[in-house]
Amino acid sequence: MTGPAGADQVAQWFRAEFGIPAAGVWRAPGRANLIGEHTDYNNGFVFPFALDRGTMAAATPTASGVLELTSRQVGTGTVTIPLASLAPGAAGGWAAYPAGVVWALGEAGYPLPGARVAIDSDLPQGAGLSSSAALECAVALALTQLAGLSVPRQELAAIARRAENEFVGVPTGIMDQSAALLCQAGHALLLDCCTGEWENVPLDPAAAGLALLIIDTRAKHTLTDSGYAARHIECEEAARALGVPSLRDIADPSALAALTDPVLHRRARHVVTENQRVLAMAELLRRGEVAGAGPLLNQSHASLRDDFEISWPEADVTVDAAVDAGALGARMMGGGFGGSVLALVPADSAAVRDAVRAAFRGQGWPEPGFLDAPPSASAQRLW
Ligand code: GLA
Repeated sequence: MTGPAGADQVAQWFRAEFGIPAAGVWRAPGRANLIGEHTDYNNGFVFPFALDRGTMAAATPTASGVLELTSRQVGTGTVTIPLASLAPGAAGGWAAYPAGVVWALGEAGYPLPGARVAIDSDLPQGAGLSSSAALECAVALALTQLAGLSVPRQELAAIARRAENEFVGVPTGIMDQSAALLCQAGHALLLDCCTGEWENVPLDPAAAGLALLIIDTRAKHTLTDSGYAARHIECEEAARALGVPSLRDIADPSALAALTDPVLHRRARHVVTENQRVLAMAELLRRGEVAGAGPLLNQSHASLRDDFEISWPEADVTVDAAVDAGALGARMMGGGFGGSVLALVPADSAAVRDAVRAAFRGQGWPEPGFLDAPPSASAQRLW
């Protein structure tokens, strides 16, 4: 067994739990989202990039008719799920994600006869970095490759999303799974969630003397009990009131004047202007103007805070402190109500880190976490 240290560790965990060697180890990354928040389930544009941290799956195919799952982080032994009874509700907690993937693969015409899977992760949980999509995608890639199935990655992303939507029961969009499976190192993934068209656009902050920094506000984020589903419903209501299939179909914010409900108006304005910001960001990056991204990040944050109303106090304080201390721009990321902020900072980010730490101390909050976020590669087999 050779490979990155993390790969050896999860392979050893597999052997300790199951008493046999794993057939291979796969890894899927977490993601940051440069811009394009709450646009994916509105058929709009997103622009995520993969992190250099993620979730690993060591796996072996079996013909046992059961799925055996174990997680190094959870550490409570093996969860065994008979495949014959695999249906939404058949597994809960963390096991619902890999079990949901096996269920969704079966629904898509890729039934599996059984598997043993051990999971390990170096991604902070609840930090809004898509640890669930990383888990789904690591398992999906591992089990399809072990079964000799060549499922196109975009189809695999849709299968992993279906697991999350229908098996776990969270109405997420396609962004996180697409990032885990389609991103390229040194690039961000521009994805049109309506047509499925995607393009990796170069994103090289280091070449401009800059860096992307994730600041974990330590306010825990969870999609299952947040207002995420409520926002999804409000956006559908706004589209219905405007007589369009989705908010993607509104390109000009002035068309929103027809929305008389002030709340729905604000929600829709966020989505419509955020789509514009994603396209503006793509133009900037194509010209290699990374430094110009700062104002777009700040505008996105203001829109998520004031119009979509999903920011949280720690995120607002982080953004203000980071920008005051020299960040070119910063914004909350992900589903909202907790998780992380993304900041575009000078390569030496000490002043920003110090300022955010000081602001948190001033509020009496726990110390925030910092994670460098170089745009990294998508899911792959490690050995
Ligand atoms: C979560 C979801 C994504 C997306 C973001 C918000 O990460 O999983 O599909 O909707 O929130 O942009």
